[in-house]
Amino acid sequence: MPKAIRIHRNGGPEVLSFEDMQLPPPGAGEVRIRHTAIAVNYSDVNVRQGGFYIAGPLDFPVILGNEAAGVVEQLGAGVEDVPVGGRAAYVGVGGPFYENTGAYAEARNLPASSLFKLPGKISDEQAAAMMLKGLTASMVINRNFRPAAGDTVLIHAAASGVGLLLIQWCKHLGATVIGTVGSAEKADTARNLGLDHAILYREVDFVAAVRDIAPDGVAAVFDGVGRDTFAKSIHCTRRYGMLVNYGNASGHPEPLDLLLLAKHGSLSVTRPAFSDHIRDPADRKRYSDELYDLVDQGVLKVEIGKRYPLSEAAQAHRDLEGRRYAGSLLLIP
Ligand SMILES: NC(=O)c1ccc[n+]([C@@H]2O[C@H](COP(=O)([O-])OP(=O)(O)OC[C@H]3O[C@@H](n4cnc5c(N)ncnc54)[C@H](OP(=O)(O)O)[C@@H]3O)[C@@H](O)[C@H]2O)c1
Repeated sequence: MPKAIRIHRNGGPEVLSFEDMQLPPPGAGEVRIRHTAIAVNYSDVNVRQGGFYIAGPLDFPVILGNEAAGVVEQLGAGVEDVPVGGRAAYVGVGGPFYENTGAYAEARNLPASSLFKLPGKISDEQAAAMMLKGLTASMVINRNFRPAAGDTVLIHAAASGVGLLLIQWCKHLGATVIGTVGSAEKADTARNLGLDHAILYREVDFVAAVRDIAPDGVAAVFDGVGRDTFAKSIHCTRRYGMLVNYGNASGHPEPLDLLLLAKHGSLSVTRPAFSDHIRDPADRKRYSDELYDLVDQGVLKVEIGKRYPLSEAAQAHRDLEGRRYAGSLLLIP
């Protein structure tokens, strides 16, 4: 019987319980995948706590997680184009990322259509560490704001999983990158991956620090922190700037008075969702192929902050909420 991390109620990391699970054969259109590396994401914390966008009570017990890599073990009826024994990864299984979870398990069934085939040049750990974070960075760059050579951009939580990938991608495009970070160690990690200017935003006023570096303001702000950074970021942009709020690690930002956009250089603001932008099969293929190539070429290095045995998911959650590590955290079954 496979093991999984399940929750029977919402709460702190202590509600994560390593238990036996029932796993029926895959249904029509499904495959069974045996996980080799599982991603820990902020949305897992949100689901565990019972917050985020979740409308009603969860149907407990719930297995957390919605991103992993592994090996296809069994095919359900009607699945023909997926080889048994093939390596694959997935990020979400259709619908919002935080619904239909089940990745914190040794194995699971999921729709064959949700799989990304993995090329030999990408390891299972790289895939688990980068599919959501890399495709989110891709969404920001390809869909929201692509820096031009010479632009200066500001990336909040620059040493986060998405942040480190955004730094490298922006540098590749020729931008100057300013990043906020929570500690000197994170600043070092981010600098090693190309960050030009690190701001310790828990110690100094980041608006003043940004204006010192870029007196006219930055072309764009990429913000995965939300409540603690969003409103002040409006004061960091240049005329016709762009503010992309892609995440809320510190909570949801306050509602925005649209007039502020006119008062701040005709600023644009967007709040994109991965599940909207990377959804149709052609986009999934195009953007994942681009990501694999950028990793293979060494343009994007995938930073793994720490690996934990699956049974120690609670510690991984404590570390994620404690902002301890730069890069992605993985659970290894
Ligand atoms: N829009 C989408 O579709 C989409 C897709 C993927 C991820 N996201 C969201 O984007 C955000 C970043 O994702 P990620 O995978 O890069 O996250 P991550 O690696 O877990 O990093 C989050 C970072 O946010 C910073 N932070 C600031 N305030 C915090 C607080 N109160 N609690 C915890 N961390 C705080 C910390 O960095 P410092 O210590 O340096 O401050 C932390 O390391 C998350 O909110 C995630 O849910 C959204």
